[in-house]
Amino acid sequence: MTGASAAVGGDTPTATWQPISTPASSIGPWLPDGDLGVRLAAGLTRVEGVLRAAVGSEHTFIAEAAGHLVAAGGKRFRPLLTLLAAELGDPLAPGVTEAAVVCELTHLATLYHDDVMDEAAVRRGAPSANSRWSNSIAILTGDFLFARASDLLADLGPEAVRIQARTFERLVTGQIRETVGARPGDDPVAHHLGVLADKTGSLVATSARFGASFAGVDDELVVALTAFGEEVGVAFQLSDDLLDIVSEGGASGKSPGTDLREGIATLPALFALAGDDPAEQRLRELVSGPITDDAEHAEALDLLRSSAALQRATGVLREYADRARARLSAVPQGPVHEALSALCEYVVRRTS
Ligand code: IPE
Ligand code: IPE
Ligand code: MG
Ligand code: MG
Repeated sequence: MTGASAAVGGDTPTATWQPISTPASSIGPWLPDGDLGVRLAAGLTRVEGVLRAAVGSEHTFIAEAAGHLVAAGGKRFRPLLTLLAAELGDPLAPGVTEAAVVCELTHLATLYHDDVMDEAAVRRGAPSANSRWSNSIAILTGDFLFARASDLLADLGPEAVRIQARTFERLVTGQIRETVGARPGDDPVAHHLGVLADKTGSLVATSARFGASFAGVDDELVVALTAFGEEVGVAFQLSDDLLDIVSEGGASGKSPGTDLREGIATLPALFALAGDDPAEQRLRELVSGPITDDAEHAEALDLLRSSAALQRATGVLREYADRARARLSAVPQGPVHEALSALCEYVVRRTS
């Protein structure tokens, strides 16, 4: 993001943006029709009710700041995965809805913080909290959301508290390791993939794990679904990073090309930097640091889009999606298996 768009606003919203209030997940192309689809939609509506209540506050400003990104939309990918995993047992069992909400709140809080770290101006098609108010408000609101997640967790028992604490520890570890970068002598690609597993795979894994375990699914299947979540979570992050390069419009609800502007080397840039192809020399120069100049930014995006490095990164995305699919051998054949398999396909397809 540029310095100009990083400027923080005052306490009054200035954008013409209007919130939307769709409860359903918009990650739907892979969602099943029929009974399962109907049950998932009903489950998402329950999640939305608990989520909206969880971001409320007697203080008008806090309710507005904490409700800001919930109202802006989002795919509700993590709660959806919780609900889908719960379909392998009793999806109406106590704790399933609340666990789904804990995962979304944890995710949401990290988005408030991540946008401060990445100086992002737009999130979920709305001004990020840091750009609408200030970095301080965004950080404190993220903390408020973590507190609300902990409150819900307290009723889910000590094991759930510990699982979430360790998930959160991994997530933050990933964010810190990404910020600090690889140490000299580390393989940058291995470091990067480890970061993605920690910052994204961890919470997606826990989303699936919570759904399965609160629904009473047997332990072996819980383990398989957790592993599935971890790998599909990394695939999801890889595809998100590719979308940052290949998406032309504002379909992602974020400003495309933010990673390049911020000098965050995602997998395609890392492959370009590691290569010695003379055709990618100019690309290497451009992606070796933050790009503030608009013309250079456009040039880097152009070069990356047609690069071998991007193809290689897409290959890695496919490998993670295939590995996730392989974990589904433990899941009984049926609509849930089909939906999870369709998710593996979708994370690859959405980048093309
Ligand atoms: C964004 O997550 C951050 C990543 C892990 C890629 P989502 O793509 O799930 O964001 P929302 O919830 O739909 O806004
Ligand atoms: C998302 O990270 C935040 C976490 C996974 C904790 P990114 O910075 O890669 O994602 P976007 O592009 O801002 O959504
Ligand atoms: Mg970010
Ligand atoms: Mg980030």
